[in-house]
Amino acid sequence: MMNKPLVFTIFGSTGDLTYRKLLPALYQLETRHLLPESLKIRCIGRKNLTSQTYLESALSWLQKGSRFPFEQEVYDRFSKHITYIEMSITELNDYSQLNEKNKDIDHLYYFAVAPEFFEIIANHLKDSGNLEYGSHGVILEKPFGVDENHARYLNERLSIIFGEDKIYRIDHYLGKEMIQNILTIRFANRLFEGIWNKDYIQEIQITASETIGIENRGAYYEQAGAIQDMVQNHLLQLLSYVLMDKPHDFSPRSIQSKQVDVLKGIKTKHLILGQYDKTGDLLAYREEAKVDHSSQTETYVALELEVEDERFKGVPIFLRTGKRLNQKATYISVIFKPVEGALFEHLAPQQEMLIIKIAPDEGVYFRFNAKKPGLAQQVTPVMMDFCQSCIYENRINTPEAYERLLNDAFNKDKTLFTNWNMVDLTWSFASTLNQFRKDHNVKLELYPSDGSGPKQADDLLEEKGSSWIPADITDEAYT
Ligand SMILES: NC(=O)c1ccc[n+]([C@@H]2O[C@H](COP(=O)([O-])OP(=O)(O)OC[C@H]3O[C@@H](n4cnc5c(N)ncnc54)[C@H](OP(=O)(O)O)[C@@H]3O)[C@@H](O)[C@H]2O)c1
Repeated sequence: MMNKPLVFTIFGSTGDLTYRKLLPALYQLETRHLLPESLKIRCIGRKNLTSQTYLESALSWLQKGSRFPFEQEVYDRFSKHITYIEMSITELNDYSQLNEKNKDIDHLYYFAVAPEFFEIIANHLKDSGNLEYGSHGVILEKPFGVDENHARYLNERLSIIFGEDKIYRIDHYLGKEMIQNILTIRFANRLFEGIWNKDYIQEIQITASETIGIENRGAYYEQAGAIQDMVQNHLLQLLSYVLMDKPHDFSPRSIQSKQVDVLKGIKTKHLILGQYDKTGDLLAYREEAKVDHSSQTETYVALELEVEDERFKGVPIFLRTGKRLNQKATYISVIFKPVEGALFEHLAPQQEMLIIKIAPDEGVYFRFNAKKPGLAQQVTPVMMDFCQSCIYENRINTPEAYERLLNDAFNKDKTLFTNWNMVDLTWSFASTLNQFRKDHNVKLELYPSDGSGPKQADDLLEEKGSSWIPADITDEAYT
């Protein structure tokens, strides 16, 4: 629990992130009685609103964004925490109204704004004397900077102003229940722990596919592309959880040092880039608002990686992510090597496969071989499908990522936040991908919406006698 009263200040509180994620997450914490009565939430925006009209503007988001039925009584309690403050984040003079001048208060700021504003806000908080009383932490949204150099510069500045231990870098993927579960599946089961290496694993695939396009985020996406938006953070986070050595304990330091080891040892072998094209009524990426008509920004990435680590040396690792694809699914597929020896050769058993489903379905699917019932000696694949979201959804309501992360930050628990080393390495990796694109003259392939992405990404695996594991493989019935 918190030691001192907390003041939580959100910069960018009239933005999409605050309305869609932060406020519903805070509201849910209130439903669970996890917001202390003394908590003050200060919502900062440029719009001419009062606390009352701000709350009215947020109401529909709370109603549709909450996983609990809306309750007036919870809303009344929640409203008492909220104060709306009209100010411009670029105006130093405006910051004087934030100054509490009370040394017995913990402050936490959430920068729910573009990274170009991070340094301005931090400087203005400091220069206006806001950081002189009490303790001050900051939650930063990804992207942490606009490019590698900016990220490094920004980190230096923010570390000086707040201190590394007070910086919470949010990657909402880390708040997802199944991501935290990867380590449990791997290390709490002798079965998997023992075979998690190149002797048993033939191939690893990670897929994060989306059905939506870029929606209204043209300006942001033009600058980021799928490499920065998805590969650099979410996919590398997943990859590091899949490949990392066993951490000493569950402390952020132990886990992240193992993740860092993974990221230091990965190398790109192949890169496929794509961009969604016009399909029926659906616009091409280049026709979207605030997108250049000849844009070369990628909305799809497929990668083949190799790792230096002895345990996985030689195991092909494929990552793919894209927008406007035919399925919304994030999952990890681990394909095991075929059994050796002549005993079952003529019966052609299928390869065992473990699929860890991250979103929207959460769960674990395991395919292995058994004897087909009957007189003949036949082998048939059988599936175990553990649907975590089905079992727990209505019973304990697994917390949404932002809800968990905010609660952790309020309680000064940094386990699920990213440290600077990780961020630094992921920026370097993104830079190496951009360099790879130039060096190998990687072409941007146009792909139709509602398909599985560019054909070249399928060819990449086909050449190796493999194919992408589709998300609906886990729907396969027992045969
Ligand atoms: N949306 C998401 O789901 C999501 C997820 C992950 C990361 N992010 C990142 O989070 C950041 C914010 O995203 P968003 O989608 O919420 O963007 P957004 O909808 O464009 O909101 C931006 C916010 O910044 C405020 N702002 C901009 N300039 C300002 C100024 N000079 N003074 C005061 N306020 C100012 C805007 O206020 P006005 O209303 O007055 O313009 C608005 O509240 C971005 O870096 C984005 O990449 C977003």
